[in-house]
Amino acid sequence: MSQTLFDALSARPTIAPREFRPIHISGFDREMNDFYPTPSWVTEALLKHAPLRGSVWEPCCGDGAIARVIEAHGHRVEATDLTDHGHGRSGVDFFQCDAVPAGCQAIVTNPPYGDGGTERKSRKASSQLLAFVKHAIALTEAANGQLALLVRFQWIAGQRAAAVMSGGPLDKVIVLTHRILWFDMGPATKHGQHHHCWLFFDAQRDRTRPPEIVFA
Ligand SMILES: C[S@@+](CC[C@H](N)C(=O)[O-])C[C@H]1O[C@@H](n2cnc3c(N)ncnc32)[C@H](O)[C@@H]1O
Repeated sequence: MSQTLFDALSARPTIAPREFRPIHISGFDREMNDFYPTPSWVTEALLKHAPLRGSVWEPCCGDGAIARVIEAHGHRVEATDLTDHGHGRSGVDFFQCDAVPAGCQAIVTNPPYGDGGTERKSRKASSQLLAFVKHAIALTEAANGQLALLVRFQWIAGQRAAAVMSGGPLDKVIVLTHRILWFDMGPATKHGQHHHCWLFFDAQRDRTRPPEIVFA
């Protein structure tokens, strides 16, 4: 007996929707506290174009995805996070920190974008990332250090974001020409809709020179 299209579709194995829902589908239930581990090639691209001085603080370390790559390049990494994702020291709120940890000369992270979990539809979402960037720049200037933040490329075009970035020692924008795959779902994997870039600040940069743009 021939199988109808309906039979064929009905016979497909049931897949829990959340497991196979690509990130770009509207309404995707973003992880609580914006926990998205960064694939290693993204950190490799940063290190290729922005040499770091000395020890590094990863203040939103998650499961250590960024920290491990930086350590593999010979830097000591102080890894902290608000939440315990199985790596580093948890219970450390970045906004409550008034200095970089002793001995660190750089901050590197993929910060929470403020639109995850319960804050997903909050009107304050974009302000939270702005507040994060402002605070990170202030700590970097105070330490005379470096700062690398992974953000959506589109984000940097916003007026408030542009004002905050211009107020800091922005040295380089490293644009990732490949879109980041946040979840590997095998054959069902789709790329996200966003391009990302690293914003790299250096308090010791030559401030008479405009920031560079690099395509990685
Ligand atoms: C997008 S994930 C990135 C994780 C890791 N940096 C990476 O790239 O693999 C953001 C992380 O920020 C943490 N986080 C959220 N709010 C925080 C806060 N106020 N202070 C410190 N960490 C925070 C979350 O727990 C989460 O691990």
